Amino acid sequence: AVRVLTPKSLQGKRVLVTAGPTWEPFDPVRFITNPSSGKMGFALAVEASRRGAHVDLVTGPTNLLDPPFLSTHRVKTALEMDRVVRDLAATADVIVMSAAVSDYRPEETAPQKVKKSDRDLTIRLIRTPDILAGVGAVKRADQVLVGFAAETENLIENATEKLRKKNLDFIVANDLTRPGSGFRCDTNQVKILDRGGQVDTLPCLTKNEVARRILDRVETLLQKVDH
Ligand code: CTP
Ligand code: CA
Repeated sequence: AVRVLTPKSLQGKRVLVTAGPTWEPFDPVRFITNPSSGKMGFALAVEASRRGAHVDLVTGPTNLLDPPFLSTHRVKTALEMDRVVRDLAATADVIVMSAAVSDYRPEETAPQKVKKSDRDLTIRLIRTPDILAGVGAVKRADQVLVGFAAETENLIENATEKLRKKNLDFIVANDLTRPGSGFRCDTNQVKILDRGGQVDTLPCLTKNEVARRILDRVETLLQKVDH
């Protein structure tokens, strides 16, 4: 009976999470993407909801079902994700961007299936917006902003640069060359880098456990901005 009266640790907070890959089409049946499963972002959204937060989960295409008790927004492209995130970010207390957003998209999308010819095919790719950097540029002091970094080399240097450039409170750095990390796994071995230059190397954990560690840190930061 006591337990139901105890406020949950993220009660009254709005948490925005991005998840999954994006699909960038060049015709109605073909697109550029990456192997992101969405598992890390879904684990974060479910855990934040379990802690009492109001959660908006903005996800690219995944095989995962809409989690109960939170708002799932399904998008396909980086441009769609950017629009939905911009709408929701202003009222969020916490924003965690784990989506593997495509950095480029085909400049043109053919209205019909592209037919093969005997010549080679060239697809010109143009930049998508950096959704996280956009949110970081307008971030308020009372908001907590968390990003991910997916790297295959120079993990600490690259992740530190992203942390600074995108105005993050901390960044979760993923070495994609390590077994048991990153795309499609149920586990993740990450380092968490903060603005003070601290590096926390976590052991290989389930994505659910990584989500708990991330949200524990978020709660610590929220206690600071709330006072
Ligand atoms: N991100 C984003 N929008 C993009 C690209 C990335 O919001 N168009 C976010 C990701 O969700 C992640 C962070 O930025 O939280 C870092 O993504 P990552 O791909 O590691 O870094 P990039 O800044 O895209 O740089 P690069 O891919 O060249 O390493
Ligand atoms: Ca990228």
